[in-house]
Amino acid sequence: MVTNLLAIITNLVAFSLLAIASSAATATTADKVLSNHATLLADSSAGLAFSLYQNIAKEKDTENIVISPVVVASSLGLVALGGKASTAAQVKTMLSADKVKDEQLHSGLAELLEEVSDSKARNVTWKISNRLYGPSTANFVDAFVKSSKKHYKFDHTKVNFKDKKGAVKSINDWAANSTDGKLPEVTKDVGKTDGAMIINAMFFKPHWDEQFHHLMVDDRVFLVSGSHTVGVPMMHRTGLYGFHEDTVNKLFILSIPLAHKKSSLLFFMPYNVEPLERLEKLLTAKQLDEWMGKLNETAVAVSLPKISVEVSHNIQKHLGALGLTEAVDKKKADMSKIFGKKDLYLSNLFHASAMEWGTDGNPMDTTVFGTDKLKNPKLFYADHPFIFLVKDTKTNTILFLGRLVRPKGDKIRDEL
Ligand SMILES: *[C@@H]1O[C@H](CO)[C@@H](O)[C@H](O)[C@H]1NC(C)=O
Ligand SMILES: *[C@@H]1O[C@H](CO)[C@@H](O)[C@H](O)[C@H]1NC(C)=O
Ligand SMILES: *[C@@H]1O[C@H](CO)[C@@H](O)[C@H](O)[C@H]1NC(C)=O
Repeated sequence: MVTNLLAIITNLVAFSLLAIASSAATATTADKVLSNHATLLADSSAGLAFSLYQNIAKEKDTENIVISPVVVASSLGLVALGGKASTAAQVKTMLSADKVKDEQLHSGLAELLEEVSDSKARNVTWKISNRLYGPSTANFVDAFVKSSKKHYKFDHTKVNFKDKKGAVKSINDWAANSTDGKLPEVTKDVGKTDGAMIINAMFFKPHWDEQFHHLMVDDRVFLVSGSHTVGVPMMHRTGLYGFHEDTVNKLFILSIPLAHKKSSLLFFMPYNVEPLERLEKLLTAKQLDEWMGKLNETAVAVSLPKISVEVSHNIQKHLGALGLTEAVDKKKADMSKIFGKKDLYLSNLFHASAMEWGTDGNPMDTTVFGTDKLKNPKLFYADHPFIFLVKDTKTNTILFLGRLVRPKGDKIRDEL
């Protein structure tokens, strides 16, 4: 009798183990593994992220920054697809992919971008629209149009750049339309009009893994500098978040998971208001890894600006400074796979994003409320300039990197 019962129990345990094993197997198949090439490109786009950011940050008068390294990488992929010889080879060098075959470069970048920007699977809003503008005299090669659509989801159009006003309007209308109005302006001017132009227009809205309460929002001030403040709405909540206080470098690091914890939004904020230059000098892939390793689940009372930031960067010359010297040079560029002849270069690359931080997210885990876990929270009060980064959990891809220096808002006071 006893043995029988034992046998039944053993069987039951074995059966439930089997059930667990099989559901784990289903979960892994659903969450597909990235190919080696896509993984390599995820790493190299992250490497590129910091150098591009630092390069943009050096530019005079630049305040807010928002770049998507993985989208920059895919626009570089487009240059490789349309470029010949060393114009294309330079892209591979920038992406540390010299040994990767062309076809693998394109399919790897496509796979990576598809994986990380899948709004549905990731439960965040990320609209990406890419367009290549050629001058009205140019003709696009059919094979290029097809393969750039397939790999990079680029569309193509021609515009009369000599009519600068018309060209600017066409670009801005298209960007506004493809971001549902969230990004009304990419540029006020087209600058150089004798080349081809790449435009990335994006709208990104994080959907928090746990929402902020829509009523826990009020008007506060943001200190742009010691003497300049603007009024912004701020949202507040206390929760358990990855947190680290770097007492040597005097900054707070906070990680807030986005939906289903597939990615997270990380903040790097100095203790007090100060120019971000000091922190920016520290920013490297290695330092980021180190900080990530120190994040510790902590009760934090978080206050964040509830705002949207729209930023457009012309990164053509920054990419030139990072090694893309041929494609941006009228005399040297060979983009004949795009236009059939060697007389066009990349005159502008507008990389524009609208990012909106709101209270939306999945329901809160209310079981921790009123428990010791949330006792004596650390404060993370984001009322002065900080650096932020959206990082994919599975692939470690950096989806966005930027800084908030001046939120839109009414100027409250300027003190001398
Ligand atoms: C995220 O998922 C929730 C619930 O499953 C849904 O209500 C919401 O619309 C989704 N949001 C996005 C941006 O996908
Ligand atoms: C805006 O988008 C819609 C649908 O996506 C399209 O039909 C329309 O032509 C677009 N308008 C402009 C100005 O691009
Ligand atoms: C993480 O936090 C807990 C409690 O707040 C603390 O005991 C622990 O030492 C911390 N771990 C690290 C690695 O800082």
